[in-house]
Amino acid sequence: MQQTNLAQANAVQATAADYGYLRQLVFGLSQNVLDPSRDYLFETRLTKLLRNQGMTRLDELVRHLRVKRDPPLERAIAEAMTINETSFFRDTRPFELLRTELLPKLVEARRHARGLRYWSAACSSGQEGYSLAMLMQEHFPMLASWDLRIEGTDLCAEVVERAQAGRYNRIEINRGLPARFVVRYFDHVGEDWVVKPEVRKLCNFRQANLCAPTLPFSRITDRFDVIFLRNVMLYFSHETRKTLLAGIHRLLAPDGILFLGSSEQPADPSIWTSVLAGGTCYFKPRQPS
Ligand SMILES: C[S@@+](CC[C@H](N)C(=O)[O-])C[C@H]1O[C@@H](n2cnc3c(N)ncnc32)[C@H](O)[C@@H]1O
Repeated sequence: MQQTNLAQANAVQATAADYGYLRQLVFGLSQNVLDPSRDYLFETRLTKLLRNQGMTRLDELVRHLRVKRDPPLERAIAEAMTINETSFFRDTRPFELLRTELLPKLVEARRHARGLRYWSAACSSGQEGYSLAMLMQEHFPMLASWDLRIEGTDLCAEVVERAQAGRYNRIEINRGLPARFVVRYFDHVGEDWVVKPEVRKLCNFRQANLCAPTLPFSRITDRFDVIFLRNVMLYFSHETRKTLLAGIHRLLAPDGILFLGSSEQPADPSIWTSVLAGGTCYFKPRQPS
């Protein structure tokens, strides 16, 4: 009831210019394009932030920001507007295809280097990264002595902290995880389930903006074998997608694999070969001829 009142108060107080200001702020910091038809989301998503600032209305927040730049507060607004929907083994098929076809080939190709690097770009609260770790532990025990690394990055500090903690509630655990995985790879702690250390040690989560002038990992010479960049580009403009995918192309091994979300396509198809297999689609970097 109180929330409804707050929303109603905001509906009256926040002007089109206020919403425009907030949309522009979010775009500047995360490149997420928010549609004006969804302006109501500012009310619901920023309620806690407003309270923490001792404010009750969006127009107060906008006035505050117009008077004085406040980078931490601006970042908190951009992060609060992200959509962090995720689950273990989301969409199933990319993981099945990795297990049955793609990983056996990669393992063979890396048998001398004895290492594999994954990147869960826009990892949200970590389920994607931990799914990859569990997949390897469950189906590729011969990799136990290899150098395996799963990097997870996300813009939003709150979800990165959750990924680092590897702690999930009953609803999250019930989404996508086979029961035997829960038993084998999680400890039941209080009301929650916590990823076991042997899974967690493969994963490293940190905050990073995919649209920053320098892409995360740009300074690292080892390229990634597998990159998951799923369900994030739908919030970006065509230009942002193109720039991001050109950077991703440089970070992927020549025989590496890119998975996008099931409704996503590369912005510049000329640098990618798309492969349909196992009821899904993945992308391989095309090399300049
Ligand atoms: C819908 S979730 C997708 C999570 C996971 N990849 C999946 O498919 O289940 C999108 C994530 O992208 C993150 N995100 C949005 N803009 C970003 C940016 N500019 N840089 C990095 N992450 C971003 C959000 O914080 C959110 O956690």
